[in-house]
Amino acid sequence: MSLAKIFEKYPNRRYIMFGGKGGLGKTTFSAATSYYLAKTGKKVLVFSVDPQASLTDIFQKDIFGKGPTEIIPNLYAQEIDADQRVKKYQGEIRQKILDMYGMDKIPEEIESYIQAAAAEPAMEESAIFDEVVDIVVKGGYDYYVYDLVPLGHALYYLSMASVYDAWIDKITNLREQMREFDQAAAVIRREKELDEDAILNELLFIKERINKSSSILTDKEKTAFFFVLTAEEMVIKDTQKAAELFAKFDVPLSGYIMNRVLPSELKDQNIPDYLKNRFEMQEHYLKIIDDEFKEQILARVPEMERDVTGLAMIDKLARKMFGEF
Ligand SMILES: Nc1ncnc2c1ncn2[C@@H]1O[C@H](COP(=O)(O)OP(=O)(O)OP(=O)(O)O)[C@@H](O)[C@H]1O
Ligand SMILES: [Mg+2]
Repeated sequence: MSLAKIFEKYPNRRYIMFGGKGGLGKTTFSAATSYYLAKTGKKVLVFSVDPQASLTDIFQKDIFGKGPTEIIPNLYAQEIDADQRVKKYQGEIRQKILDMYGMDKIPEEIESYIQAAAAEPAMEESAIFDEVVDIVVKGGYDYYVYDLVPLGHALYYLSMASVYDAWIDKITNLREQMREFDQAAAVIRREKELDEDAILNELLFIKERINKSSSILTDKEKTAFFFVLTAEEMVIKDTQKAAELFAKFDVPLSGYIMNRVLPSELKDQNIPDYLKNRFEMQEHYLKIIDDEFKEQILARVPEMERDVTGLAMIDKLARKMFGEF
């Protein structure tokens, strides 16, 4: 079945993701798909969780940290500025400390601790995560196209969700045990209990947000996750492994899209041995791919004459990917 037909067949899908190894064409396909959907009348937001401003490059428009930016009618692109969000967190933490201890200035040791915490990679990831949840919770678009980092943050979120689940269960149990003690010493424990409930509430809030995003990932009706692959041995192997992992986490895989297929019309021309060899190699791996993935291959996108940047090239590639529209 063609990719365009797939989109027609599943009109309830809202979240579109392209996964795969680095450099195979995830950003290119995210942009082309968003472009196609916008051109066919859907309101689309394509957003990047990649700190390497990738959409800025492909759309040739500086959108980093600027919120949803209109590219063409119906097509909006957004690049998340994680630093900005981390700064916001820092501000909130400072304010909390000031309020809690009635101080008017953050002591130097605490300030350096806040600075060090902000440099943790986990901080950036949680900032990106928060932005993504905000984007999807806010709504307003027919489609959300995720421009993912290699292998997909998807799995990271999912594994994080199960870690949080276990953790919160443990805390909730402890909390219940505490409650029994509390009844014995109600008065003394009063204030402490309030603090712990605040922490528990915060954890439950985080859990709810994580569940929201992991439920999107495993939602077979609303989410489509496509894998990008090329006709190369390592790519095929890695794709098989990734597909197994996805199955383990119950993330529905909606199909595979081949990229950088050498156009077959070249083959019949008088081409040098070098290219002939490339064709033979490609045929060999295409056969393996056809055997392995069969009708799950939804499109074969050719190797273009140049890199895909700017709307004219995106348009050209989108027509190869979806057919004429
Ligand atoms: N079919 C194609 N023909 C020609 N160039 C292509 C094609 N597909 C992708 N490219 C080029 O290959 C490069 C990598 O593509 P892209 O950035 O989409 O990969 P990616 O999977 O998003 O990479 P990363 O994992 O780094 O995010 C880009 O320069 C892009 O223009
Ligand atoms: Mg990319």
